[in-house]
Amino acid sequence: MSIEPPETTVSPSESFPEGSPEGSASAPSRRTFIATTAVGGAVVAGGLIGGPSVFGAEPADAATQAPPSSRVSVTVNGQRHTVTVDNRTSLLDLLREHLNLTGSKKGCNAGACGACTVLVDGQRVNSCLTLAIRLDGAEVTTIEGLAKGERLHPLQQAFIDQDAFQCGYCTSGQIMSGVGCIDEGHTGSPEEIREFMSGNLCRCGCYVKIVRAVEQTAHGK
Ligand code: FES
Ligand code: FES
Repeated sequence: MSIEPPETTVSPSESFPEGSPEGSASAPSRRTFIATTAVGGAVVAGGLIGGPSVFGAEPADAATQAPPSSRVSVTVNGQRHTVTVDNRTSLLDLLREHLNLTGSKKGCNAGACGACTVLVDGQRVNSCLTLAIRLDGAEVTTIEGLAKGERLHPLQQAFIDQDAFQCGYCTSGQIMSGVGCIDEGHTGSPEEIREFMSGNLCRCGCYVKIVRAVEQTAHGK
């Protein structure tokens, strides 16, 4: 016994109620709409993804041209480096990808979390938002440059004493920001520390202990 459904003799356009726009003679049927949309999508995708451009011929060497680059000299943790980088390179990528200093973390890469905080000429900055080529001649301090040999920076020690981290992803940024906060003198009260550390997020929620660590370092508490 056959179980195949009977072939319909009703065209897609006839399945719309009379008088509706879809049912008019000039309106495309659902089947032709899908067919033309698919072809249109393929043409656009071909133009964008790899086929010949539908917007005109492209210069033959456009894909092979190297992006503009520049030489930059920076002193990082007391050591001078001169490198040639793509002009779009952030300080964070210069540190992590070119100088192999991976202590500064890439959280949001958009200036919102503070995980990438370092000091540039003593000022704390989000290194993900700082163009490397603008730092020619600058002094950069990262988390790798805080300790003196085996002796931790007092704020690094305070983070351990106060148990001020869990996963640790934000910690290098918190410590660098804390060093800046202390140098700036914004440690008059826990509220002031919280305000001036508010650009550094901690998804583990260690804020109370982070503030205590900054207080311990600033005031010996
Ligand atoms: S990674 Fe730079 S602010 Fe988040
Ligand atoms: S310790 Fe995990 S994000 Fe701060």
